[in-house]
Amino acid sequence: MFLKMKLKDKVALVTGASSGIGKAVSLLFAGEGATVILTGRHLNNLKLVENEIKHNNGKAESFAMDITDREQINKTIKKIIGKHKKIDILVNNAGIAKWNSIENTTYEEFYEHININLIGYFNCIKELVPIMIKQKSGSIVNIITSTVKKTKAERVAYATSKYGQAGLSNAVHEDLKNKGISVVAVYPGKTDTPIHGLPEDDPRRKEMLKPEKVAEVVLKAALIPAEKDVKELSINPVK
Ligand SMILES: NC(=O)c1ccc[n+]([C@@H]2O[C@H](COP(=O)([O-])OP(=O)(O)OC[C@H]3O[C@@H](n4cnc5c(N)ncnc54)[C@H](OP(=O)(O)O)[C@@H]3O)[C@@H](O)[C@H]2O)c1
Repeated sequence: MFLKMKLKDKVALVTGASSGIGKAVSLLFAGEGATVILTGRHLNNLKLVENEIKHNNGKAESFAMDITDREQINKTIKKIIGKHKKIDILVNNAGIAKWNSIENTTYEEFYEHININLIGYFNCIKELVPIMIKQKSGSIVNIITSTVKKTKAERVAYATSKYGQAGLSNAVHEDLKNKGISVVAVYPGKTDTPIHGLPEDDPRRKEMLKPEKVAEVVLKAALIPAEKDVKELSINPVK
């Protein structure tokens, strides 16, 4: 039986598409028929994902785009709109994480987390919302973290930036829910990605979520219509 692809004819922009959760989301979305716009700072890493998608007969395009650089975001979006005339989905995912206590968190580390994780998400939403309002449709999925639901020790810069993202996501959700645009925050628990910097054989990796599982929840989030008024979805490893 031929199953209908869930994202046929959709254009989805994924930030941080070269690694971990963003890569898994990109592969899944492409498998569901979307044209995936892969973005991140390093084009060579994005091209590897693009090749994998194309090898599986999917559609993908890569753009070097630092989410802290508004000009780069603006230029990328103009190129996408010039070619595809629309952007249906934004997955705000790109980010960094250093886990430190208040004593060990440096000023630079703190500012960098706010700049990339919080301001970076804002920049992408801010550039895309006028387009989605014009389209009268769109879906924004913001990848946050379960840390926001239960903060642990030694998370100062990361947790602060992630709480900011959660506030941003909820606030934008309220502004756009009656304009046909869905905004959903996804809260994953620990996920086995390079962000943890763990060696291949580290036993802790077995207890973590697989990025592919998180990607399934991101897909679910991207498919929620605005009128359903769903603000968030969570996924955690089974204890
Ligand atoms: N792994 C977990 O346990 C976990 C749990 C909950 C939530 N999350 C969240 O999930 C998201 C993805 O994390 P991950 O674990 O998949 O991390 P990852 O494997 O380290 O991937 C991070 C991605 O973000 C990109 N990136 C970093 N800074 C960027 C910038 N300034 N501009 C554009 N792209 C940038 C990286 O590519 P370049 O370096 O090439 O730019 C990379 O593609 C993050 O928001 C993270 O907080 C992760």
